[in-house]
Formats: sequence, structure tokens, C-alpha cells
Amino acid sequence: MSQTMQQLKETVAYIQSLVSTPSSIGIILGSGLGNLANEIKTEKEIPYNDIPHFPVSTVEGHKGRLIFGELGGKKVWVMAGRFHYYEGYTPQQVAYPVRVMRLLGVNTLLLSNAAGGVNPHFKIGDLMIINDHISLFTENPLLGRNDDELGTRFPDMSEPYSKSLIQLAQQIAKTNDIELKQGVYTGVTGPTFETRAEYQLIHRLGGDAVGMSTVQESIAAIHCGMQLFAMSVITDIGIREEENTITHEEVLQAAKDAEPKLTLLFTELTRLL
Ligand code: HPA
Repeated sequence: MSQTMQQLKETVAYIQSLVSTPSSIGIILGSGLGNLANEIKTEKEIPYNDIPHFPVSTVEGHKGRLIFGELGGKKVWVMAGRFHYYEGYTPQQVAYPVRVMRLLGVNTLLLSNAAGGVNPHFKIGDLMIINDHISLFTENPLLGRNDDELGTRFPDMSEPYSKSLIQLAQQIAKTNDIELKQGVYTGVTGPTFETRAEYQLIHRLGGDAVGMSTVQESIAAIHCGMQLFAMSVITDIGIREEENTITHEEVLQAAKDAEPKLTLLFTELTRLL
């Protein structure tokens, strides 16, 4: 057995010693989008620090924890606080919790993130269903020896984001009068926000939004056979005429403002899964 698989099994054994109820749904919450955690009827909260082999969250003021509980009438695993490549984690560390969830029995993964909009029709606060992604120089988490127990050496990526989950989300949005955009998420390393020329480049390449997370987790999820749904909150507009800088605070505030819509969508999606 590979060292990673050995570690994964130890991590999973520890978590299962605390929670024995099975769940097939996992959720990873993006920066500034952690409030969904408050909607969960929490049965167990496990600080990342306590979990063997788990990376430890470095984002200031963010106490990373794995939550088990009920949302939309279903048992769910929720990661409040994710690991970003720009924090210095390896792509394998970024992917680690996704693999842990898989081994815990999760087969549907919902992801959220804050992203910059490069589609000219987008505005701050929009929700965008991710229907595809472009990895722009983010390192692939599957580089290196393949763990055949997890998945195949050469995974197909022709439809990483489940069409049926996208349709379900659209139905929920319609019923609840929520406007949804749809588009391609471009994953970059960060931590710098993009230059004006880079935002233009991303737009020309076919990106609608750009962010510093998600792609590596998505790849790991597809590799191990999960069905995937991901959504961006547009927190800033990359391509703009006026003088304007982008700050982390502004991104967090915009995420917070849009969060109730996202929370409703994820809760209802979970209910209908
Ligand atoms: N660029 C990259 N990542 C981001 C942005 C952005 O404009 N906004 C939020 N995350």
C-alpha cells in the first residue's frame, strides 16, 4: 500500500471512531462562505488539528473544522475552511480531504468559492454555476505515482461538473427566484490578484471567472469517482475601466452579502440529492 493510502486509512479510521453514521454528501466551503455551517444540525465537530495526517489551516481567524451533521434532512460532511495551494500546501495536501471524504463514503461533492468575474455580463454578488474549468498553471494533484485504489491513471475530464446536478440547481433557483449565471472557472495559484492584462487573457481563453481554489479538489474528486457540483460567488470584477484595486476584505464582504442565496441553494440541493 502506498504511504498516502496508509495515511488516508489512518485518518478515516480516526474519523470513524468519532462518527459511525454513514453519509454520501460532502461540502467544501469557500472563503467568506462559511456560514452554511450554521445551518447544519451539528452532531460532531472535529478540529483539523486533531485529525491525523490532515493539513492544518493557516488562514487567519479561520479555525478549520470538519463538521458532521444534518442539512436539508440529509447527513453531510462539511469542511469549514479549505486548504489553498497559495498557502504553501502541496496539491496532494489540497486534495487530501477530498480523498478522505471519498473513503468515508461520500460520492457527491459540493464546492463553493469566491471568484473574480471576467465575463462582461457579470456583476458583484452574482452566483455562477461552474460548468467547466481551466487549470491555469495550477499543479495537478495527480502528478506522481498513481494510487490505483483511488482511481485510474488517466481520468477523463470531459464533464467534471455533473449535468444533472446543474439542472437540479437551476430548478431550485427558479423556484426560489434566484438568478444564476453559468460559466467556466479558471483556477490560478494566487495569492496575487490578477493584473489587468491577466484578467483580459483569462477572458480571451474562455474563462468567465477566476479564483485560487477548487480545480485541484475537483480533479481529485473526479479521479476517485465522485459526482461534482461547484459554484462561484462573484466577489469582484476583473475587467473594468475605472481605477480600482481589489482587496481581500472586499472579496470577503461580497461573499458574505451573497451567501444567503448560496446557502439556500446548497441546502435545497442536499435535500433533493
Ligand atoms: N482573482 C483570483 N482569485 C479571486 C478573485 C480574483 O479576482 N476574487 C476572489 N478570488
